Amino acid sequence: MEERRYLTFALGKGRLAEKTLEMFEKTGITCEEMKDKRTRKLIFVNEELRLRFFLAKGPDVPTYVEYGAADIGVAGRDTILEEGRNIHEVLDLGFGKCRMCICGPEDAGERLLHHELIRVATKYPRIAKDYFYNKKHQTVEIIRLNGSIELAPIVGLSEVICDIVETGSTLRENGLTILEEVCPISARMVVNQVSMRMENERITELIKALKSVAGVPAHPSTGQTAFS
Ligand code: PRP
Repeated sequence: MEERRYLTFALGKGRLAEKTLEMFEKTGITCEEMKDKRTRKLIFVNEELRLRFFLAKGPDVPTYVEYGAADIGVAGRDTILEEGRNIHEVLDLGFGKCRMCICGPEDAGERLLHHELIRVATKYPRIAKDYFYNKKHQTVEIIRLNGSIELAPIVGLSEVICDIVETGSTLRENGLTILEEVCPISARMVVNQVSMRMENERITELIKALKSVAGVPAHPSTGQTAFS
């Protein structure tokens, strides 16, 4: 019999990958060599299940998936929207929850209401543009930054920011507030368009297994896999 081909997963490095692997373990999908924190390996294999995993920078995950270098990816919805790649979003994994918001000092709210030409600092220019231009029909100047976005209104670079709010403490500690909510964010599973057709059965099984363990506490693997 012909051996099944490997299904390859691209996971966003860090907490997202850790949470994803925890969730996979609950379905019986394990990858022991990935747990070794000292390893410098880039790609990890589960021979038995014919699965391969690699860790990538979050914003690169949709790129690997679009080009088919990975069949499946896990990334935050913020990254997926910002990258705008041609991929299927198939599942909300339910963790990494936060919100994309327009934030600023309280008095900037007025300027949003009156559709003034304001500056918006953000790590997410595409999301900000879509929100202001297509949803609000407000012309704004978008300034791209790479991090510590909350600084922008404090030092006078912009009136507002478009950024992720999780606990809200960064905003609070810097005298800023949520002015408008753009969309909810969480970890999503994405699939390459061709893989979705060619490996439909395996991918559908995986989605079903992941749905069934969402919110179930971790337990040691029984050797049974929902994906074998
Ligand atoms: C993110 C985000 C906010 C902060 C929100 O920044 O850009 O700054 O977390 O979290 P909170 O609501 O729980 O305070 P991150 O830590 O990823 O670093 P960055 O500023 O370099 O983007």
